[in-house]
Amino acid sequence: MSSTPVAALELEGITKSFPGVHALRGVSLTLRAGTVHAICGENGAGKSTLIKIATGAQHADGGVIRIGGEVVDRPNRRQVQARGVRAIFQERQVAPDLSVTENVLLDRLPTRFGRVDWRRARQAAQARLDELEIDIDINAPVRSLSVAQLQMMEIARAVSFDARLIVMDEPTASLSRHELDPLFSVINRLRSAGVAILFISHHLEEVFAVADDVTVMRDGAVVAQGPASEFTTDSVVQAMFGRSVDAERVARHDAEVAAVPRIELRGVSSGRLDNVSVSVAAGEIVAVTGGVGAGVSELAQIAAGGAIPALGAVYVADSSDVMRKVRGRRHALSLGVAFLPADRKRQGLLLDKSVADNIVLGRQANGRSLVFSPMQARTAAASLVPLANVRTANTDVIVGSLSGGNQQKVMIGRWMGVDSRVMVFDEPTAGIDIASKFDIYAELRRLADAGVAVLICSTDFQEVGQVADRVLVMRSGRVVGEVRGELATEHQLLEMEMAQ
Ligand SMILES: Nc1ncnc2c1ncn2[C@@H]1O[C@H](COP(=O)(O)OP(=O)(O)OP(=O)(O)O)[C@@H](O)[C@H]1O
Ligand SMILES: [Mg+2]
Repeated sequence: MSSTPVAALELEGITKSFPGVHALRGVSLTLRAGTVHAICGENGAGKSTLIKIATGAQHADGGVIRIGGEVVDRPNRRQVQARGVRAIFQERQVAPDLSVTENVLLDRLPTRFGRVDWRRARQAAQARLDELEIDIDINAPVRSLSVAQLQMMEIARAVSFDARLIVMDEPTASLSRHELDPLFSVINRLRSAGVAILFISHHLEEVFAVADDVTVMRDGAVVAQGPASEFTTDSVVQAMFGRSVDAERVARHDAEVAAVPRIELRGVSSGRLDNVSVSVAAGEIVAVTGGVGAGVSELAQIAAGGAIPALGAVYVADSSDVMRKVRGRRHALSLGVAFLPADRKRQGLLLDKSVADNIVLGRQANGRSLVFSPMQARTAAASLVPLANVRTANTDVIVGSLSGGNQQKVMIGRWMGVDSRVMVFDEPTAGIDIASKFDIYAELRRLADAGVAVLICSTDFQEVGQVADRVLVMRSGRVVGEVRGELATEHQLLEMEMAQ
């Protein structure tokens, strides 16, 4: 008898091409039962394509897949599921009109006498959420949830102790430090119970916190692979990009900013928000941060004019520096307020349109430019693409075919090319690789130095410390503290967030 345990998943020489792209060039990987295997790689490296193939969501052009030691030939998702494989995909897979209970249990709702047993269903869904310390109402319609809450709901759906293999494609992209502990403790218990986990994240500290093994991919190929203990953050970064990445804080050169606010939220109460006041001056980058349920994303919506608060109001300085009360998104846009929503798919990108169309859309939407001809659109987009560091052969590519992170860069590129007076960016770099993050921070700083007021709403504590001049911390809809950017360490922010 062999003493080597059967691997939960073995991929051997997997290849996959899309028109014009070699997405995977012979990728091999072994995921041992009872271990966590992390896949790292820059945006577009091929991580999601690999896990879609492993879970039957897409078919490989070549190579062998073994699940639990058995070869599965061109599996579909049902066959893979029947072998105990669960997945959290990068693209949200939720039914917005159904409740949290239905979304968590999906096709596994308990039945009694041929009907759904709602009492048991609610109990089961609640138990799943409790396990992960997720505080959302199981009866709420899913369309009312924030991006972070949706993400946690999807985690609750996939994390099941009767699974043998759980694939997680960026499960933490829009979660704050706060929400990671319960997730990691469940991952640890799953691992002890013999479940194998494939974990993708652009946050390397998470990779080192949970992974037993690491695979680094670059341009569709494996460039480094081995036990996590044999890697350092630097060696992973070096393998990912072929160079090291400078993680310096992008501070303002000149300490003085105009004392006059360019955008101001005065005593805003709405939904979760409770008497919130925030102001950002021209030349300043202010970040608002907090955990899931703090109201950070709601604040972004309101600041951009996407929702009108029940109490209080948002004011934006017009070109003569007169403060105007914002009457809605269109009005805010006419005052020069750019808005990058956290939920890009629902609110931002046209997935079946080209990169050029999507980027130019921002310019047209702010009413400052005339409608572009297709030729002009392409030229304009080509000039904006490097700003957002979108890696795509040409700007005619359909946005829906780009990797998750590269789709985000298109959204960012759209707003960077517009001469805005205020930028409200909600989770600007969720899902974006670390090298591109620093490019984006540098670009935001350049825009601020040119006189833009930048408001960043972000659950990423590292990010706010890297880029903001001032950081406001929220909890349960209130601002509970403020700290200068250079003092905004993760530790400091966590303490402020937790303080009673
Ligand atoms: N359906 C598709 N049609 C055409 N090209 C595709 C398609 N899906 C993926 N690609 C291409 O395959 C490559 C790998 O994409 P993939 O989504 O696997 O990257 P990734 O490593 O997950 O990146 P990210 O970190 O941004 O999520 C990219 O160049 C992408 O544009
Ligand atoms: Mg991906």
